[in-house]
Amino acid sequence: MKIASIVGARPQFIKCAPVSREIRKDYQEVLIHTGQHYDHGMSEIFFEELGIPKPDYNLGIGSGTHGHQTGAMLAAIEDVLEREGPDAVIVYGDTNSTLAGALAAAKLHIPVAHVEAGLRSFDRRMPEEVNRVLTDHCSEILFCPTKTAVSNLAAEGIRKGVFLVGDVMVDAMNYNRGVAEERSRILENVGVEPGDYLVVTVHRPSNTDRRDSMAAILGALGDVERPVVFPVHPRTRKFLDEYGLLAKIPANVILTEPLGYLDMIRLMAHAEKILTDSGGIQKEAYLLGVPCITLRENTEWVETVESGWNVLVGAERDRVLDAVLHFSPTVRQKNLFGEGNASLLIRKFLGRYLDTNQRRL
Ligand code: UD1
Repeated sequence: MKIASIVGARPQFIKCAPVSREIRKDYQEVLIHTGQHYDHGMSEIFFEELGIPKPDYNLGIGSGTHGHQTGAMLAAIEDVLEREGPDAVIVYGDTNSTLAGALAAAKLHIPVAHVEAGLRSFDRRMPEEVNRVLTDHCSEILFCPTKTAVSNLAAEGIRKGVFLVGDVMVDAMNYNRGVAEERSRILENVGVEPGDYLVVTVHRPSNTDRRDSMAAILGALGDVERPVVFPVHPRTRKFLDEYGLLAKIPANVILTEPLGYLDMIRLMAHAEKILTDSGGIQKEAYLLGVPCITLRENTEWVETVESGWNVLVGAERDRVLDAVLHFSPTVRQKNLFGEGNASLLIRKFLGRYLDTNQRRL
């Protein structure tokens, strides 16, 4: 049997690595890269470090408005799926590549398996939320990372084909944590000491697209009297430049290019606290046992907040600074995201599902 996997953006390369390794034990995998992320530091480095096979197709779609980007992907993915005729399509997460892949497959009556199904921030102004909801509703097989995700799907009437498998990012983390310690020299390269610096990432449109939000976040970081390492997403750099803020970065804030997975894992593992608006990083902070300050008003990873290891502060200078100074989790951590065998369960459940519900074009 043939499975087509569709990836395109940074977090999907990380999620696809452990799943692809498992899938290839039982199936022929056709890997399709939409080209949503295309810079070396946003794409190739993840394939190299994580040992992901070279994509069979790179559609080279690149940047654009949401409609243009998603539309171009939809047309190009459809061509590949028609040519390859896979038995199922796997999509990951919540990006425009996810939605385009799911829609292209569903329209061709190819079963769609969604990895990281059922997440909701309940904020339809986030492009990712629209992508999640629509992808779940055109998926036939839904692999959920948490019980909350399973309940979210049930609340929308989706009960069939739902499997609680845990989070594939735990698999990726377990596989690479030791390697990161061995190979990464990121702390030495940026000149920080373990436990004595913060890490920040910002790339959500709700922050990057508003000068006052970016100025408030940078202002709070400048008030913190210790080093802050800030790997800058290309979208964020572009906006900082446009706002005239690149020239006003506080002296304690160290900007870097986007980092590879191994550097990012080691940098986060030794940070005192992590500030982010990324979904994946909130979870990685939890897995690494580092307190997380989320620069948003909502999150799809509610378990991290409920467990006391993550706090939502939006992009207000005082709230951000207050959390940096005072937020300190006291509760012991639990296994919120599964046992680290999500990829294996995905292979098994997918096999069982396809055996009993086999349908071809
Ligand atoms: C996308 C996902 C988001 C995910 C994030 C991870 C959607 C709607 N959003 O956001 O869910 O968390 O990826 O990084 O799919 N750019 C480059 N080089 C690159 C990639 C992007 O310069 O390799 C710049 C371009 O200016 C582009 C902008 O970043 O316009 C935004 O890229 P895009 O793919 O639209 O979304 P992200 O903000 O990266």
